[in-house]
Amino acid sequence: MIGRPRVHHRVTDSTNERARALTAAGAPHGTLVTAGEQTAGRGRQGRTWAAPPGSALLMSLVLRDPPEALPLAAAVAVCEALPVEAAIKWPNDIWIERRKVAGILVEGRPQEGWAVLGIGVNVSAAPPLPEATSLGGAVGVEDLLDRLLTALGGWLRRPLPEVLTAWRSRDALLGEAVRWQNGSGKGVGIDDAGALLVDTDSGVVALDAGEVHLLR
Ligand code: BTN
Repeated sequence: MIGRPRVHHRVTDSTNERARALTAAGAPHGTLVTAGEQTAGRGRQGRTWAAPPGSALLMSLVLRDPPEALPLAAAVAVCEALPVEAAIKWPNDIWIERRKVAGILVEGRPQEGWAVLGIGVNVSAAPPLPEATSLGGAVGVEDLLDRLLTALGGWLRRPLPEVLTAWRSRDALLGEAVRWQNGSGKGVGIDDAGALLVDTDSGVVALDAGEVHLLR
């Protein structure tokens, strides 16, 4: 059962930080931390994650012995939980019509058998960024949390081939012109380890980290 016990903060620094502290204190698999507002929300690649107070689902889960494909499975689960059609922009941003509605931050120590899965979804408002969007209040935060816990409960247990198939069916970069720090090309999917495959002038390259942008 994931989502129990649950600790809710009206305001906290970062639900991932709180979940990490609970993990270190021995919290069981499935422990959930939520917040109405974060003062130091974290994003991938050392970025911050900001959301207007009370407007977003901000949650982190303590996972013991997490599956290898956790970031991929989590992205599929978020898409499934949303009330509208969504796509995954590698590695695990969730997009609606090419704008980001949700982000996923996995932190952990695989060798110690734990991970914290942090998810932020813009439910009723988005930060004032051109690339951000929200669900426009189509669902409430608590309803979305229920849907997401149900979806995660399923997808975190599915075998890797099923996760890969589901991820690939929602790949926002497939067939798209993309650029990254060291090159550009066309997205041609992900490999079985979750690396992004890009067809370039010098052949197909696999990107296993970093940031990729659409060219148009
Ligand atoms: C990203 O897209 O860069 C990842 C964003 C992850 C944000 C969520 S909000 C809840 C949890 N707590 C954090 O500090 N970050 C994650």
